[in-house]
Amino acid sequence: MSEKAKLILEGKEYELPVVIGTENEKAIDISKLLETTGYITLDTGFKNTGSTKSAITFLDGDNGILWYRGYPIEQLSEYASFLEVAYLVIYGELPTQKELDYFQRSISHHTLVHEDMKRFYEAYPTGAHPMGVLSSMIASMSTFYPGSQNPNRPFKDIELTMHRLIAKMATLAAQANKVSIGHPIMYPKNSYSYTQNFLHMMFALPTADYEIDPVVDDALNKLLILHADHEQNCSTSTVRIVGSSQSNLYSSISAGIAALWGPLHGGANQAVIEMLERIKNDGGDVQKWVDKAKDKNDSFRLMGFGHRVYKNFDPRAKIIKKACDDVLNRLGIHDPVLDIAKQLEEVALKDPYFIERKLYPNVDFYSGIIYRAIGIPTEMFTVMFALGRLPGWIAQWKEMIEHGEPIGRPRQVYTGSTKRDYVPIPKRG
Ligand code: SDX
Repeated sequence: MSEKAKLILEGKEYELPVVIGTENEKAIDISKLLETTGYITLDTGFKNTGSTKSAITFLDGDNGILWYRGYPIEQLSEYASFLEVAYLVIYGELPTQKELDYFQRSISHHTLVHEDMKRFYEAYPTGAHPMGVLSSMIASMSTFYPGSQNPNRPFKDIELTMHRLIAKMATLAAQANKVSIGHPIMYPKNSYSYTQNFLHMMFALPTADYEIDPVVDDALNKLLILHADHEQNCSTSTVRIVGSSQSNLYSSISAGIAALWGPLHGGANQAVIEMLERIKNDGGDVQKWVDKAKDKNDSFRLMGFGHRVYKNFDPRAKIIKKACDDVLNRLGIHDPVLDIAKQLEEVALKDPYFIERKLYPNVDFYSGIIYRAIGIPTEMFTVMFALGRLPGWIAQWKEMIEHGEPIGRPRQVYTGSTKRDYVPIPKRG
């Protein structure tokens, strides 16, 4: 007998269906609430509202669990390649060798960007933030590659756009960085893996090859995997809602990049390093900054701390923190901000304010330290987050289209003026 929820409104009793997921998550289905009761629900920030049913990612915020298509991220980040995980997230199953070869060949085949797109970089001001560049370049790709955009066509038609996005976003990201530092852009080398190619395009010069350190390559692979998807977060929900209007996939991804840029979301990894630098330059008094973060009259927040869903350690942060030590030790780097990060974590996790609010380090708290150790500029950190999250955005968009979900159009409760008549200017008070 399926569960029901009872609602009593104005003396009348209503029954609402209950939905139970494969990991026993429970939801009250309110899709018929307005037509049956005349009421809508109100949930600013959607803290209590599910927007869809999804089979892509499962996360348990209380127990710090994160699975992609049922596979724990601890295993995927240890043993799989990023493109293997991208395939898993998008297609739903780990690829056979034949399937992975096909996927990798297709991605490699599409790494070049239309030469005319290089002209865009000449128009950006020096020091343009790469997230602004990337978001507009991805939207502009829809004009250079107008084919295979109709979401109502069979999957094979739209698959080419998915592969183009995964291949070209890495090239565009590296190009944006090269242009921002006044270096000539480097072309992809298709003999390289996805991560090796990105490192090559980021750090090689026409005058000097870049020697790819396997430690760096492995750390980048791990970081991209750990960012691959995270169910219905702000930027993924943005991709889904833009895609629900049947706008093309390029514009949906461009909107996701824009949403990710915010310091409360993916922009936090850049904000964490800037915060740690600020604390270091202020003399390293960690307790002072923890107290500022607790002070309601102070807008300062501990960036990289807290999460809408994780009320325990973000499992990604645990893996990244360990990778941090490994990478810095293996590269022989001592980064003072890592010491400050660890002191900050130690002080905050003992503080009742953070304990009561279940505020723990999230994925962004340590990731910037590794990116910095690799040599990636701070303003590129959120671009790295977007590169990792791209397969998840594509998978979530694909699932929304395959489910035939309607255009997203939330309702509201109106709190403005009641009806009033126009008054000509001379008579206005
Ligand atoms: C990501 O959703 C996802 O899955 C996102 C993400 C993904 O993979 O896509 O995991 C990636 O975005 C990680 C989060 C990165 N952002 C930050 O690190 C920015 C700092 N953190 C926050 O601003 C905050 O914790 C959020 C935005 C992450 C979550 O905010 P919520 O869920 O809306 O919680 P809230 O702002 O209502 O805070 C609840 C309480 C408040 O205090 P009270 O009003 O109860 O007294 O906790 C306090 C907040 O003031 N609080 C913090 C804090 N985060 C929350 N206080 C100090 N420092 C912080 N970082």
